[in-house]
Amino acid sequence: MENNDAITNILTRASNRRFNPEIPVTDSQIETLLRAAMAAPTAVNKRPWHFVVVRDRVLLDGFGTSLPYCHMAKYAPAAIVVCGDSRRFLEGENSTIWVQDLSAASENILLAAHAMGLGAVWTSVYPYAERVEAVRKLVDMSPLFVPFNVIPVGHSASPRPPMDKWDPSCVTYL
Ligand SMILES: Cc1cc2nc3c(=O)[nH]c(=O)nc-3n(C[C@H](O)[C@H](O)[C@H](O)COP(=O)(O)O)c2cc1C
Repeated sequence: MENNDAITNILTRASNRRFNPEIPVTDSQIETLLRAAMAAPTAVNKRPWHFVVVRDRVLLDGFGTSLPYCHMAKYAPAAIVVCGDSRRFLEGENSTIWVQDLSAASENILLAAHAMGLGAVWTSVYPYAERVEAVRKLVDMSPLFVPFNVIPVGHSASPRPPMDKWDPSCVTYL
């Protein structure tokens, strides 16, 4: 197997659900995470994304109580809401491809966070209508944006080892 820093970073990432709320995430760290997100591949180079950076404690607590699997936001010093910008969605049979663009951007955030020694976790919003509405209401979001996920980010209070998901039976070689 190839062995280099990028591969090691991918193979050692794990979702982090326990944060130290006392240690902030700096502006520079947030910008690096956003630069990583926007470096993702994107169909027809449409970049149909928008990112809402949340550091407000009341809003972070709100994610924790209004989303069913985002309780850890109550302890995170920051969260990034990855959103679709409907003005840049493709039309016709490609109209849902923005989900793939945002997934690629989200994974880049998770990998960048891990590379920077931060913990992060993807928490689902889209396509659950009630979660989409809850996030829109909480952050007073324009209906032009579709909140896709909430990624709490911060310093881990208890880093977890990665799961080894390698399964050769999931592969066909031709
Ligand atoms: C589409 C998607 C939705 C997810 N939603 C949640 C969520 O709402 N809450 C949560 O704690 N983790 C969520 N996760 C994280 C998964 O639970 C996690 O990736 C999986 O258990 C594998 O663990 P790992 O990330 O440590 O490898 C989500 C991951 C993906 C890709």
